[in-house]
This record gives sequence, structure tokens and C-alpha cells, in this order.
Amino acid sequence: MQGGFTNPAETGVEMKSITLIKGDGIGPEITDSVIKIINAAGVAIDWDIQTAGADVIETEGTPLPKRVIESVKKNKVALKSPVTTPIGKGFRSVNVQLRKELDLYANLRPCYNLPNVKTKYDKVDIVVVRENTEDLYAGIERRVDENTAESIKIITRSASERIAKFAFDYAVNNNRKEVCVVTKANICKLSDGLFLDCARKIAAEYSNIKFREILVDNCCMQLVQNPNQFDVLLLPNLYGDIVSDLCAGLVGGLGIAQGANIGKDYAVFEPVHGSAPDIAGQDKANPTAMLMSAIEMLNYIGEKDAASRIKLALFETLNAGVKTADLNGNASCSEFTQAIIKRLAVLVK
Ligand code: NAI
Repeated sequence: MQGGFTNPAETGVEMKSITLIKGDGIGPEITDSVIKIINAAGVAIDWDIQTAGADVIETEGTPLPKRVIESVKKNKVALKSPVTTPIGKGFRSVNVQLRKELDLYANLRPCYNLPNVKTKYDKVDIVVVRENTEDLYAGIERRVDENTAESIKIITRSASERIAKFAFDYAVNNNRKEVCVVTKANICKLSDGLFLDCARKIAAEYSNIKFREILVDNCCMQLVQNPNQFDVLLLPNLYGDIVSDLCAGLVGGLGIAQGANIGKDYAVFEPVHGSAPDIAGQDKANPTAMLMSAIEMLNYIGEKDAASRIKLALFETLNAGVKTADLNGNASCSEFTQAIIKRLAVLVK
């Protein structure tokens, strides 16, 4: 199944109260678009709207107030748009903190061709499974002296085994054939070596899924030359972040790249892209990545019928040639949204 996955705990079916983190930059624009589309599909959701990021620091003293975490803990599911992180200075990423605090250990990023989105390759269908809680994102960094800085890369057996198990379970549940583990274990012999060992150990428990190993540099080259050879990719946090943007580029760019952060108890759905400050506030953003993330959220909470109708309306809109500027179209974010809503009106019984 493309992009779909099963709620591991099957706890979400009854839930309709969902945390909505609006973010900043293009966040509010794409969020408004998606909420309008979900409303038009007739899904009744009680959105628990939460703010985070630089804008709340002044009033609440932190970019990620406790109320945001508490809200996700209460509702179990969140839809999140991007939040800006200052580069090279300032506060720790809200995204990284949220994933850590809620133990959202699996970052799932399906990448496949969308209708009428022309790219170099057809039939790309890759799922990136990224470990989401450790590696260089542990944030253990220090300035040794004026000319030297160091960052510590944390890889543990428990986190590596559980993400490997997630990747293989995903493969089994979604009719996938192969899991390919991506590391730099020739250089980071201990840290990536441990990640690789854990993947090998878990692979041995899944005789029906093929297992493959590749070094991350070769993987990038192979991806741009022949992406169709890959199925499910399993990566530590940093390589997963980078390689998933590469995969997004293969199928049309960040404007269409969906994502989900899944843990044992909670799930936060969000696009792969950031807050795109270069186009914020101009009604130019493509809401597709956020919409595709929301579609997976609807599937997760059991709203499968609405999820398929929205997906169909999105695909028909793209097929009709209504596209935003990032896909070489000339529709604004709001025109694109309205076009999807118009299609939905025909599909809603
Ligand atoms: P970005 O993903 O925001 O933008 C990269 C390029 O893609 C830009 O040219 C942008 O205009 C374009 N783009 C992104 N999303 C688009 C969309 N929906 N429609 C059309 N074009 C789109 O990455 P960048 O510029 O490196 O990061 C900006 C900020 O976002 C940083 O503060 C970064 O930390 C943050 N960020 C937040 C994430 C999150 O909240 N999960 C994820 C990645 C970055």
C-alpha cells in the first residue's frame, strides 16, 4: 500500500479530538488550506490548536511550552506544520524536542510519484524509515575552545533494534519486498556499526522480507541514478533526514513530501519540509505535503473513507493541471485549495 500504514496500537479509531500545531513561516497558510479541505470532506474534528516556536518565547519563556506536549498526550494524535529553528544559534529545534519528549521514535516518509507531476523518474515508490530520537540530534555539543567544537553521536541497541523492527513490520504490513539499511559503518565503525548489527539481527527474524546493506554515499549516488531499485530504506537520524529530502526531490520536491512521527503511544503527522521563509505570507506554498500527511492521519484515526476521497480529489486536481508554482503551475495556495474542495463536493455523497 502506498504511503499507508497501520496504527500499531489500533487505539485511534474513536478519537476525534486532535492537536493542531500551526507553526510559522508558511505553516499557517498550509494549515488553513488543509483544515478547509478536511472540513469539506465532512470529517468532524475538534482541533485543539497549539502554538510553538519563536513567537511564544516572549510570552511563555520557551519555544515548546508544556501545554503543547500535554495536548498531544491527551489527544494521542497531532497534525503539525513546520516550525522555524534558528541556524547556528538560538533555541533547540522544537521538532527534535517534540519527537524526543513524546518518544516518537519512527519517522516515516513515503516518497512516490504523484499524477501529472513530471519528474526524471516514473514509478518511484520508496519509504524512508528514519530513527527519530538519537544520533547527532541528541544535541550533545560543546565548544572545546575558540577553534574547536564537538558533537556526540549517540546510537543505542534499544533504539536501533526498535526502529529496525518498525521498518520490517511496516514492510510486512504494507506488502513491501525489501528493507535496505543505510549506514557509514566503514567509518563510524562503533556507532553505525551497532545500528547495522541491530538491523542484521532483526532482519534474521523476517524471512519473507529481503535484506540489503548499503553505505550512505553509495546510496545517494544510486538513488539519483536508479531510484526504482529501492523499496524501504532504514536509516539513523541524520542520514534519514538528508536522504529523505533527496527522495522528495526525486518525485517533485518538498512541496509534496509527506511525513509522520510514530511512537508507541502517540503520532504526530507533519510534512517533510520546513517553514519556507522565502515564500511565507505570499499565498505561494504548496499545501500538498501537509495534505498528504493529514490524509495519513485520517487513515490512522480510522477515517479511511474521507482519506481516500481527499486523496482522489487531490489527484484529480493535479491531473486537471491545477498546480502551485513549485510544480511549474500557476495556482496560488488558495486557488489550489479551492480546486480540491470543488472536486470534493462532487465526491461527497
Ligand atoms: P524548507 O523546507 O523550509 O525550504 C526549502 C525550499 O523548499 C525553499 O526554497 C522553499 O520555498 C521550498 N519549499 C518548502 N516547502 C514548500 C512548499 N510547501 N511549497 C512550495 N515550496 C516549498 O527548508 P529550509 O529553508 O532549509 O528551512 C527553513 C526553516 O524550516 C529552518 O528554520 C528549518 O530549521 C525549519 N525546518 C522545520 C522543519 C519542521 O518543522 N519539521 C523541517 C525542516 C526545516
